[in-house]
Amino acid sequence: MQGIEKYSVTLQNYLDEVITVKEPIQLYEPIKYIVSLGGKRLRPVLTLLSCDMFNSDYKNALPAALALELFHNFSLIHDDIMDEAPLRRGKETVHQKWDLNTGILSGDAMLILAYQLFEEYEHIMFRDLAKLFSKTALQVCEGQQYDVDFETRNDVTIPDYIKMIDYKTAVLLGASMKMGAIVANASEECKTNSYDFGRNLGIAFQLQDDYLDAFGNPKTFGKQIGGDIIANKKTFLYIKALQNSSEKDKVVLEKLFSEKPEDPTNKIKTVLEIYNASGATKETLKEISAYTQKANKVLNKLDISEKNREVLLNFGEKLMKRNV
Ligand code: IPE
Ligand code: IPE
Ligand code: MG
Ligand code: MG
Ligand code: MG
Repeated sequence: MQGIEKYSVTLQNYLDEVITVKEPIQLYEPIKYIVSLGGKRLRPVLTLLSCDMFNSDYKNALPAALALELFHNFSLIHDDIMDEAPLRRGKETVHQKWDLNTGILSGDAMLILAYQLFEEYEHIMFRDLAKLFSKTALQVCEGQQYDVDFETRNDVTIPDYIKMIDYKTAVLLGASMKMGAIVANASEECKTNSYDFGRNLGIAFQLQDDYLDAFGNPKTFGKQIGGDIIANKKTFLYIKALQNSSEKDKVVLEKLFSEKPEDPTNKIKTVLEIYNASGATKETLKEISAYTQKANKVLNKLDISEKNREVLLNFGEKLMKRNV
C-alpha cells in the first residue's frame, strides 16, 4: 500500500481496538457512532505523515494521532450543540439522535479518552505531547467562545475573524503536524516549521469550510448548507461583503444578521446574492489560496526529502479543491 491510504487503514484498525461499546451503552454508543461516520481524518493523517517524514516508524505516532481525532470528534459533538446543527457527515448529529445531555457527556468522555492515549508515551515525550495538547485544546475553547460571541456582535473585523479561526481550527492542525515531529524526535526547528505549516493550512481549511457552508453541494458536504447564515456567523464572506457592499445592501445584510427567522430560505438566498454581488465570494477564494501558498512557503524550510515535500504540497492542493 502507498501514501496516505496506508495511514488511514492503520489508524482505522487501531481505532477499532481502542473504541468499543460497553456499559453504560448510552455513554459509549454515541462515541462509536460519531467516529464510525468517519470524516476526512485529516488531523491523525497529518500526525502519522509528519512522523513518517521525520524518519520514524509512523506507528509510534498512532496514540497521538488517535488522541487528536478523538479530541476533534469531541469538539464536533459540542460544536453541533452550540451551533444547533442537525447534520454531521451526512447523518444526524449526536444531540439530535440522542439528546443534549448525551451529547455533553459522551463529548466529555471523548476528551478524557484522548488525554488517556498520551499515557502510551514515556517521560519527556509524554510531557511534551500533553503540554502541546493542553495548550491547543484551551485555544480551541477560546476560539469557539469568540465564534459564539461574534454571532451577536456587529463590529467584527477581518483580524478578529482570523484570530478566531486560528484558535478554533488552525492550531489543532498545527499541533497535529508537530506531534508527529515530537514522536519522531525531530529537531526544534522541524517541530516549529511543521507546526507553522499545519497552522497556515488550517486557516485556509477553515476559510474553505465557511465557503462550503454557504456554497457547497448539500449532497456531498454532509452538513446543513447555510448553517452559518442561519446562526449569524461572522465569516470572512460576511465581513468582506459588509465592507464592499453598497449602502443599501449593507443595511439589508446587517438587518438579516440580527434576525433568526423561522423559515430561513429567503434569508439564505438574499445573503448569498450579496456575497456574490459584493465580490466577497471571490475574495474568500483568493484568501484560501493565499493561506495555502503561505503554508507551502513554510514547506521549503522543512528538512524533509523532495518526495515528501511533494506529498505535503499535494495534500494542501487537494484540500483547497475539496467539496467535503
Ligand atoms: C470540521 O472539520 C470542523 C472544522 C474545523 C471546519 P473537518 O472538515 O475536518 O470534519 P471531518 O472530520 O472531516 O468530518
Ligand atoms: C468548528 O467550526 C470548529 C470546531 C469544531 C472546534 P464550525 O462550526 O465551522 O465547524 P462545522 O462547520 O460545524 O464542522
Ligand atoms: Mg459548527
Ligand atoms: Mg461552530
Ligand atoms: Mg463550518
